Amino acid sequence: MTAAHFLSLSAIRTVGLVGAGSVGKGWAALLLARGYDIAVHDPAADPAQIGAFITQAWPALRRLHIATTEQPDLSRLSFFPDLTTAVAGADLVFENGPELVSAKTDLIARIDAALPADRLILSSSGGIRPSLLQAEAAHPERILVAHPFNPPHLVPLVEIVGGERTDAAATILARDFIAGLGKRPIILKREMVGHLTNRIQAAVLRETFHCVLEDVASPQDIDDALRFGLGVRWALMGGIMTFNLAGGPGGAAHTLDMARRAYADWWADLGDVTLTPEVEERLIEAAKAVEMDRSTQDWIAWRDEGLVDVIALQNERIDKA
Ligand SMILES: NC(=O)c1ccc[n+]([C@@H]2O[C@H](COP(=O)([O-])OP(=O)(O)OC[C@H]3O[C@@H](n4cnc5c(N)ncnc54)[C@H](O)[C@@H]3O)[C@@H](O)[C@H]2O)c1
Repeated sequence: MTAAHFLSLSAIRTVGLVGAGSVGKGWAALLLARGYDIAVHDPAADPAQIGAFITQAWPALRRLHIATTEQPDLSRLSFFPDLTTAVAGADLVFENGPELVSAKTDLIARIDAALPADRLILSSSGGIRPSLLQAEAAHPERILVAHPFNPPHLVPLVEIVGGERTDAAATILARDFIAGLGKRPIILKREMVGHLTNRIQAAVLRETFHCVLEDVASPQDIDDALRFGLGVRWALMGGIMTFNLAGGPGGAAHTLDMARRAYADWWADLGDVTLTPEVEERLIEAAKAVEMDRSTQDWIAWRDEGLVDVIALQNERIDKA
């Protein structure tokens, strides 16, 4: 299929959401802020709870200039007990069901059977290769991953990943649609388990958890290493630029001269983590320690408020770079 055969960006008005858990609700808030009508199908959906989530998310979307109205227009949100009816009238569908290959492949095949062939199906999958998700679809060319980050209505990044049978025009259309939501999409040149960002996160978390298990420092100090050390730079720059600037005016070549041997030694010494029940118990204890008697819900509210400030600063800085 060529670009001309897909429904154009400007013709997309109604978006189908299949699965309205934490990710589906985040997409719903963002899509509503951008003026789309939304058709939701989720056997467990509670319209009042989804409406409350969107209303609560709205001030943050306004601060980021993504939402432009005082209040969300929840009447643009419709709920369908039947998947076929929900997606038959949609111009694009997000699949946000549970992260299980067989369940997702089946769900996507059912969406594919009900949705006109010129419309995209975007899966939020956090790590399943899109070629697997396309396996049972009659129109695999319009299926790809658009992976957001929690909370999906706030974190700017979305990874766009095509499978073996995704049409290049579908990838471009998906990127343009996601950029139109105010996101910062990146396109992966090839699919990998865990896509790109979760692989990087998994590498950092493996060593973080290894240091917890080795009791290298307290859980709070281990988290502070990231917050006040690496993380403060990472909000501005990626790992490659950070490495480059570590060499001063001599750049990456100088960093390599200084640190070639050290990195080889560190990489050789990094730990591994196996998630046995005992290990999981230690990690849950560490999480409780960093929560310091405040509830998880409290921390989520604190995170979301802080994220808006960080994203606003990023927007200002990155646009100036
Ligand atoms: N939670 C995250 O941090 C995160 C971030 C990015 C991407 N993702 C991905 O998003 C997807 C959803 O994750 P989540 O965290 O929202 O999970 P979740 O468990 O919060 O939500 C899944 C929803 O799917 C619904 N569902 C189950 N079967 C269904 C069906 N047949 N039809 C329609 N809906 C169905 C459930 O009722 C539930 O509401 C996963 O693929 C996950 O990898 C999650």
